[in-house]
Amino acid sequence: MKNLTVFYFSGTGNTRYIAEYLAEKLSCKYRSELCDICKVQNAEEKIKAADLILLAFPIYGSAPPIPMRNFVHKYGGLFAGKQFLIAETQYFYSGDGAASLGRTVKKYGGDIIGAEMFNMPNNLADCKMFPIKNGEEIAPILEKAKIRADKFAAQICRRGRAHKRGFSPLSHGVGYFTQRKFFRKGEKEKRRALKVDETRCVGCGLCAKSCPAENLLLQNKKAKPLGKCVLCYRCVNLCPKKAITLVGSAPPEKQYKGPNIKNS
Ligand SMILES: Cc1cc2nc3c(=O)[nH]c(=O)nc-3n(C[C@H](O)[C@H](O)[C@H](O)COP(=O)(O)O)c2cc1C
Ligand code: SF4
Ligand code: SF4
Repeated sequence: MKNLTVFYFSGTGNTRYIAEYLAEKLSCKYRSELCDICKVQNAEEKIKAADLILLAFPIYGSAPPIPMRNFVHKYGGLFAGKQFLIAETQYFYSGDGAASLGRTVKKYGGDIIGAEMFNMPNNLADCKMFPIKNGEEIAPILEKAKIRADKFAAQICRRGRAHKRGFSPLSHGVGYFTQRKFFRKGEKEKRRALKVDETRCVGCGLCAKSCPAENLLLQNKKAKPLGKCVLCYRCVNLCPKKAITLVGSAPPEKQYKGPNIKNS
């Protein structure tokens, strides 16, 4: 059996769900290890020992999240000659989401043997134009994503390679000109845009404990952002008092509970 190492970033659980599902489906050929890139230790050794690496991440404005971009730049020197799969998750559209990271992996000499994009539930809980769904409402979305993952994994198991979705020049243009160009331009400001409504915050500390970027600190029993948010929306969706807002202007009415929650 060959070794598959999955390096994933997941703000609210969608990408982790897909990464776990793919690892299970690839067990035809691979013994897998799942690593959260925000917690992983000895990544260098894990990369060296892997026969195949799966990079899994959510898309933000047609761009990969900051931690995943940093991870690829940090370890890119080890990528030459290695085989890679890319799995990107999105609410409905990114153009070239998978390729947006895949191109960098290729620049470091990685061989991309397959790339897929998965539509998953929305997690932008403070944006009224995108409704939040939970529980049974998201079951059909997850079923569709699993069918896509089944097909993708079957190609790898059968012939060692799969399609590379989002890698055409047209997808590249669509992703860049409709979203990424603008999103990346405003990214710095967005990282500082997180607001905590102190009238709602009860100082429970859940947001600070859960933040993958250590962006939240408890001061005088109130959560304070430090300006290094990576836009994952975990805290916005977790806060029991709905006190946190990021891109939207008002705290969320409904929070996303993630794909593994049956009822909400
Ligand atoms: C800051 C931000 C920007 C996003 N931009 C897009 C986007 O451009 N296109 C899209 O389809 N979904 C977008 N989404 C939705 C997420 O990519 C999607 O819900 C993803 O599956 C979340 O994965 P996670 O649960 O692993 O964090 C965005 C979400 C966030 C938090
Ligand atoms: S999770 Fe909400 S209530 Fe708890 S400390 Fe953070 S902002 Fe305050
Ligand atoms: S502050 Fe919230 S949205 Fe920003 S990185 Fe931390 S958990 Fe994610």
